[in-house]
Amino acid sequence: MEKWMFLAVFLFATFAHASQDGCIQCHRKNNPSMVKEWEKSRMANSGMGCVDCHGRAHSNEKNVDKAVMPSIKECGGCHKKQAEGFTMGKHGKAEEALYVSAMGKKVKTQSPAIFERSCATCHNEICKDGGQCDACHSGHRFSAQEARRPESCLPCHMGNHPQYESYSFSKHGALYKSRGLDDSIPTCATCHMPDGDHMVKTSWGFFGVRGEEPDPKRAADQKTVKTAVEMLGPILAPDSFRPTMTQWTERREAMLDICARCHAKSRARQDLAAGDGIVAQANKLAAGFIKSASRLKETGACSPKEYFWLIRDKMHAQRMSMYINAFHQYPEGILLEMIHFKGATMELQKNTSEQSIKR
Ligand code: HEC
Ligand code: HEC
Ligand code: HEC
Ligand code: HEC
Ligand code: HEC
Ligand code: HEC
Ligand code: HEC
Ligand code: HEC
Repeated sequence: MEKWMFLAVFLFATFAHASQDGCIQCHRKNNPSMVKEWEKSRMANSGMGCVDCHGRAHSNEKNVDKAVMPSIKECGGCHKKQAEGFTMGKHGKAEEALYVSAMGKKVKTQSPAIFERSCATCHNEICKDGGQCDACHSGHRFSAQEARRPESCLPCHMGNHPQYESYSFSKHGALYKSRGLDDSIPTCATCHMPDGDHMVKTSWGFFGVRGEEPDPKRAADQKTVKTAVEMLGPILAPDSFRPTMTQWTERREAMLDICARCHAKSRARQDLAAGDGIVAQANKLAAGFIKSASRLKETGACSPKEYFWLIRDKMHAQRMSMYINAFHQYPEGILLEMIHFKGATMELQKNTSEQSIKR
């Protein structure tokens, strides 16, 4: 190395360190826990500093607004593969999904405060400025290990989309609870982000429908369900379902390759086919419910608005929970949803017959 190069590197390192020390000194005083978290991260240990993500334009309390708030653009500069995967998969489309849905538009105009604190917290934060990489790698630790735990998915994948609950009550989840992270026990990331692939997308998707349905009986029920769910809107979300059987099968085979790391592939195939059977069963129950609700609407016993909420409240999430529980091996959950459907449909049928007696 030439002498001048030594000097340049020396000066650069000194300058970089000096400004870095400034950030740390001040922020250790103001936000001690945050700085400690950063110091535990692998990036800090590999020599990176605050300025690598936040820039140098802010250096004191008077120019706070000049600090860069990093998003996928900054992270993606060094982690191209993860950034591309994120954008191509469903997480990169979470915000767009919200705005095409009728529910989203309704809640945004009618209850904006709820929209901000609820829908937008799960859907928009993860997409802010093109993408936020700290949804699963919380700042400033930015740990890969932490993201492998199912708890990193918990704040969003629960409730109306109860994957966390389903997983928790499965054999896989029970083993995770007793042993912690362990290569021979799958967590969400093992099955959905294998080998660190940040492109998340399943065969059935959230709505459990597909563009082509080879079985004619199943196709009829799926059509009834699809029409009702279209009224709610979410099914119009980008990449909501696989349009062709080829695309559907491609995702299924990829999932089976993951099961096959720990199980005989043929048994895993049977297990997922049983899940497909539950999708069909859930559609059959849901179609029955929808037909009863439609009759009620036709007789004038319920208004279009009441019909909308009947479908949203008593059918939509319950139907999805049935197969979510099946695919995540939570047997009791399937049964509970089936009992719910029977009860709700009988209630509707009772109302319909009372209505026809009155007439
Ligand atoms: C003289 C003290 C001081 C120094 C030096 C300093 N900061 Fe700050 N920084 C602050 C204060 C004060 C705030 C505002 C905190 C608040 O709102 O409570 C802040 C806020 C921030 C924010 C949040 C900005 C936002 O929009 O919310 C970031 C990021 C940040 N600093 C990074 C840095 C980096 C990187 C450096 C070094 C290049 C640095 N700081 C140096 C005092 C300092
Ligand atoms: C690997 C990139 C990265 C590095 C390095 C980094 N940060 Fe951050 N920082 C982030 C991200 C991401 C956020 C959250 C951005 C957002 O919410 O839009 C953030 C947020 C902040 C905030 C606002 C936090 C809040 O909760 O209000 C402060 C202050 C801050 N960083 C200071 C620092 C300081 C000081 C250092 C060095 C010790 C540092 N950061 C190093 C990525 C980084
Ligand atoms: C200047 C380049 C650079 C930027 C910008 C950057 N990283 Fe990193 N990141 C690295 C390097 C280098 C490593 C590897 C450290 C090691 O292996 O010791 C790393 C490692 C990681 C890891 C793995 C840590 C682990 O526990 O194994 C995660 C997660 C990560 N970065 C996330 C982020 C996020 C999120 C952002 C944006 C907020 C970001 N990085 C921005 C360079 C960068
Ligand atoms: C607790 C976090 C959370 C809240 C709150 C939330 N969602 Fe979601 N939403 C999710 C998750 C997670 C998924 C994906 C679930 C899946 O694939 O099983 C999703 C999926 C969706 C989809 C897309 C389905 C697809 O196939 O692409 C739409 C549209 C949607 N939600 C709308 C809304 C609306 C409107 C609200 C507020 C009324 C809302 N969400 C509130 C987490 C949330
Ligand atoms: C949905 C959760 C989630 C989001 C969002 C997410 N990651 Fe990750 N990330 C993970 C998981 C899980 C792993 C661990 C994968 C593995 O190796 O098992 C990981 C691993 C990583 C690693 C370590 C790779 C290695 O080979 O050691 C980097 C770097 C990283 N992520 C960067 C990013 C960046 C950049 C973004 C934003 C574009 C991002 N992550 C968004 C879940 C997430
Ligand atoms: C900040 C909230 C949030 C976190 C954290 C999060 N997700 Fe998501 N996830 C969503 C939303 C919202 C969607 C739906 C996006 C859309 O409709 O485009 C989604 C969609 C998905 C899908 C696509 C399902 C389909 O339609 O095929 C998978 C798989 C997924 N997430 C897995 C994970 C895993 C695994 C983790 C944890 C490592 C995780 N997510 C963490 C919010 C989150
Ligand atoms: C043992 C593997 C495995 C584990 C562990 C796992 N999943 Fe899944 N997940 C699946 C399978 C299989 C499907 C259905 C795929 C299909 O559509 O054929 C699925 C479907 C999904 C979907 C799409 C909607 C649905 O539920 O049908 C989301 C979102 C999801 N999982 C998130 C998660 C989250 C979050 C966790 C952890 C709490 C998790 N998964 C744990 C295998 C797994
Ligand atoms: C990282 C390893 C691993 C992966 C990947 C994995 N499993 Fe498992 N699975 C286990 C272990 C360990 C058990 C418990 C021991 C046993 O019963 O063989 C188990 C048990 C099961 C059971 C029995 C549940 C019960 O209630 O008895 C089923 C069904 C199952 N797995 C299906 C799947 C399917 C389907 C996939 C892929 C979508 C999958 N597993 C992926 C490790 C794995």
